Amino acid sequence: LPPAENAVPTIFGLPLKYVSLVTLAVQNATLTLIMHYSRVSSAPSQTYSAAAAVLLTELLKGSISLLVAFSRIDSYSPQYNPNSPGSNSLWNPSNLLNRFRRLGKEVFRPDCWKLSIPAILYVIQNNLQFVAVSNLEAATFQVSYQMKILTTAVFSVMLLRRKLSPTKWLALLFLAIGVGIVQIQSGASKSDASQHEMNAFKGFMAVVAACFTSGLAGVYFEMVLKNSPADLWVRNVQLSLFSLLPALVPIVFSHSSSSGSTGWFNTSLFENFGVWAWATVLIQVLGGLLTALVIKYADNILKGFATSLSIVISFLASVALFNFQMTLTFILGSTVVLVATWMYNQPDNSSVEVRGC
Ligand code: C5P
Repeated sequence: LPPAENAVPTIFGLPLKYVSLVTLAVQNATLTLIMHYSRVSSAPSQTYSAAAAVLLTELLKGSISLLVAFSRIDSYSPQYNPNSPGSNSLWNPSNLLNRFRRLGKEVFRPDCWKLSIPAILYVIQNNLQFVAVSNLEAATFQVSYQMKILTTAVFSVMLLRRKLSPTKWLALLFLAIGVGIVQIQSGASKSDASQHEMNAFKGFMAVVAACFTSGLAGVYFEMVLKNSPADLWVRNVQLSLFSLLPALVPIVFSHSSSSGSTGWFNTSLFENFGVWAWATVLIQVLGGLLTALVIKYADNILKGFATSLSIVISFLASVALFNFQMTLTFILGSTVVLVATWMYNQPDNSSVEVRGC
């Protein structure tokens, strides 16, 4: 029998599809908690630069994606001369050069500029996430961030001309109501770990804006992926490359500003960059890579489930770690969000798959 090309990849004997989904759920919840703690556990004047964290994340994610893209080059870019002597040896200098040239050609293919749009949007989103998580309780942020399902759906209908079933529209309405209920109690409580005055309105506005960029960037990335045969890892490299310039903008801006350290834009790039800041960056990197794996081995409907599972993990951990006060309105709002997410993810005949990344 020929090797099973469509065999489901496994890791430690478990299907990679489910491993990546569960890991994404845990990653989502952990990121929110660690990022929140990393921002609020120190005084505002001693906090690290969010802009530096975003830049570092893109550098690391881009480097890992580059390595993966390089290691897989033969699977998506044909060799120039497959019959040349020693072509099977990776470390043969001429083979290495040949692979680098093919990778360069893939990364800088003529349509690579298309990734500049989601790259800019994701950089804005990743910066806004820091503003939101610094001004809202971790669990409140997690629930409010579910609104990105709504923005993704709206952009999918507008840009990809997808049709949503009445059940899905109803689920989206429930989602908005649920997020609204959760907001009623936000701002009333302040967790034990916080040394910051949190501004719930500012946090909520940042979440709304981040949901907007998430939806638009996701749908745009999906359009690019589906309209071209390029490898996902090459697309990830392009995304990171185009992210570098916008990620540098707030850093340059902060250096030219005379007001000095104000929390978001510290004068020294890695000032106050402690262990929690590094943990935030590493978990963000993991999230970006997992997102790519989930798209490849699972699907976007399952990705929605993973996100809703992460809400529950965040709730429980927030109560245990930050002494988060769970009010009745919070439980009600969160339940409505979870039910809406479940409703939205029910398969229907028109098989509407919304997320591309
Ligand atoms: O929640 P959402 O799906 O919008 O999150 C997207 C996150 O994943 C962003 O932080 C973005 O930078 C990252 N991402 C990535 N690689 C992709 C798509 C998204 O690193 N291909």
